[in-house]
Amino acid sequence: MNVYEIIDKKKRGLELNQTEIEYLINGYVNNEIPDYQISAWLMAVYFQGMTDRELLALTNCMTKSGEIVDLSSIMGVKVDKHSTGGVGDKVTLVVAPIVAACGGKVAKMSGRGLGFTGGTIDKLEAIPGLKTTLAEEDFFNMVNEIGLAVMGQSADIAPADKKLYALRDVTATVDSIPLIASSIMSKKLAAGSDKIVLDVTVGSGAFMKDKENAVQLAEKMVAIGNGAGKKTVAILTNMDVPLGKMVGNNLEVVEAIETLKGRGPEDLIAVVVEIASTMLYLAQIGTKEECMKKVKRVIADGSALEKLKLMVERQGGDGSYIENPDQFEKAIYQHEIIANNSGYIGTMNTEECGKAAVLLGAGREVKDDPIDMTAGIQFNKKTGDAVKQGDIVAIAYSSSKEKLQQGVQKISDIYDIVDKRPQ
Ligand code: URA
Repeated sequence: MNVYEIIDKKKRGLELNQTEIEYLINGYVNNEIPDYQISAWLMAVYFQGMTDRELLALTNCMTKSGEIVDLSSIMGVKVDKHSTGGVGDKVTLVVAPIVAACGGKVAKMSGRGLGFTGGTIDKLEAIPGLKTTLAEEDFFNMVNEIGLAVMGQSADIAPADKKLYALRDVTATVDSIPLIASSIMSKKLAAGSDKIVLDVTVGSGAFMKDKENAVQLAEKMVAIGNGAGKKTVAILTNMDVPLGKMVGNNLEVVEAIETLKGRGPEDLIAVVVEIASTMLYLAQIGTKEECMKKVKRVIADGSALEKLKLMVERQGGDGSYIENPDQFEKAIYQHEIIANNSGYIGTMNTEECGKAAVLLGAGREVKDDPIDMTAGIQFNKKTGDAVKQGDIVAIAYSSSKEKLQQGVQKISDIYDIVDKRPQ
């Protein structure tokens, strides 16, 4: 087979077959095909797109490049969820215990935060003692016995994606819908669950800034999942405002606990109920309506909160923090951002909200940056809320005076008070 001819075929918009795609990807992973040829192919894909057949072949090949987790020793239907990322997205922390409390099985591998979006693993590590690296046997036993476990993604999952992503990052080919879809789904398929719910975020704080692109991404990922024999459903959720009130690791864990206690913010509850009930429906636990009722019931009767505590303790964490979240360390410094006139909060740039949290110390600009678990933002007022002059619209938290100043400046710039309530 000839790499030049494969690139040329893609450049002319013709469909590649499975053998050609496997030849390219396997050759790249084995260092037999150089970066410059794969870069040319990535750019051809960027402009020509991929058919559903090509996309499935590419994703399957990336999935098979590493370990495929075998969850068959776990009884029942294993159902996974994935979010394309956002600001204040603590949904997994709330949804996984709810699904387990309703009889579902969640064997979840999650990632860390980078840039303006947070990651579930960093948030879980805010709980003192909690381990996110688990032996495979302990992971399986936990899911069998209590219905859930959440650990960091194994380094052996989809190595082809790691290598391709690094190349996309330096060749301006990250923002290609087929490449994003295959990248995400290769890892989801390798993680081994039977069914998948995708939370495709859309808006200024998401990867996909507009609904049209988000729908396209969702449709591609659903086609890949179903094509690979795993029933997959996608839900579009709003990321034009931060989700919930809290952004930052300790703050978000506390908000997740409050939500499981029935005291969560409305927008977070709505997303949680939709995703958890869809996961349960896919796991054949009931009709969608029955699953919604179950979700609300396990929040009201405290059994979902109890599941979170069990999970935390089984992973070595201090469960008393779940009962009494006041114990979470607070930031040394805080600053209130005050409304300087009356009106309505205008459109907020949510990516900038995430960047403000990073400036405060809550996230990483580059991989392996340290994180200040106490840093973050409490958004008391969000887009469309009425405010009076003197109201506290947000509170910034940090353990560094300098970082606090930088973060506060950015948050103040994000807020705009307008006369007419925005849509
Ligand atoms: N997340 C991924 O895992 N891959 C992409 O390409 C983009 C976002």
